[in-house]
Amino acid sequence: MADKEEPKKDAEKIEKNYYTDVPFKTNGNFHVKGAANLDWGMKKHLTNIFNPKSGNTVMFAFDHGYFMGSVSGLERLDILIPQLIDHVDVLMATRGALRTCVKPNFRKGIALRVSAGSSMINDDLSNELISVDVEDAIRMNADCMAVQVFIGAPGQLSSINNLSRVINAGVRFSIPTLGVIAVGKNMERTSQYFKLATRIVAELGANIIKTYYCEQFDEIVAACPVPIVVAGGKKLSEKEALVMAYNSMQGGARGLDMGRNIFQSKNPVVMADCIGKIVHNKYTDKEAWEYYCEKTKPKK
Ligand code: 5RP
Repeated sequence: MADKEEPKKDAEKIEKNYYTDVPFKTNGNFHVKGAANLDWGMKKHLTNIFNPKSGNTVMFAFDHGYFMGSVSGLERLDILIPQLIDHVDVLMATRGALRTCVKPNFRKGIALRVSAGSSMINDDLSNELISVDVEDAIRMNADCMAVQVFIGAPGQLSSINNLSRVINAGVRFSIPTLGVIAVGKNMERTSQYFKLATRIVAELGANIIKTYYCEQFDEIVAACPVPIVVAGGKKLSEKEALVMAYNSMQGGARGLDMGRNIFQSKNPVVMADCIGKIVHNKYTDKEAWEYYCEKTKPKK
């Protein structure tokens, strides 16, 4: 086994080239990165997530309750979700939220949160377990299973174990896995950290990765052999959130998986539409912001 120190020193010495201008080479004719060699069922689930025309997705994340409880904006899922379903491609949620607050009469993708164990009263959020087994993911018709991964945190090994077990079950039953890159409280959202974390999770077999936008994002995307969707993170102004969404797509993201920047917006439905126009209709952030202003200006 190479000396642990060696890779670090080597990494610092040798110039890296991410060929950010060279498209991914081994995708065959399937529209999802890294999925060309997967089976029919996996590809069907991934197509329920990533639109074949744009290759992209708008995921609406409202799984926050699994560790944040009734966070602002999600107090009444039964009121909020029916308003947004027609404006997004995928719902990212817990099984509890879906079964109690979302009627099954919609035709959108489902990203099912299957890890748990954190809570806002924990100091360290990184100790999670697999809370949903693959049989219930099958019952819920999940198009992917979402697992939090804490690279660099005390719970790193257990989260990698969770991810690997979910991937193994997903391979058995042709359900993709979404690896969610978490950033511990004492960590920085640097490209160095996200390059490490996204590549580790992809190498372990995740089919989709959710991370955050940061500098050198195009290099993170280039080095990651599966599609990256971007989480919104803490609430920004609508204008700033649209800039971040646009920069993410320009950097090679295949979609956004936003929560707080939609459900804590003054106008969640319009915000979801704006994200969709950036993701599927090639709107710039400026065009999307103009659309937002037009749709939300006070009626005379
Ligand atoms: C919560 C999550 C969320 O799905 C993810 O962070 C996206 O939500 P937001 O845009 O609010 O960050 O993983 O643990």
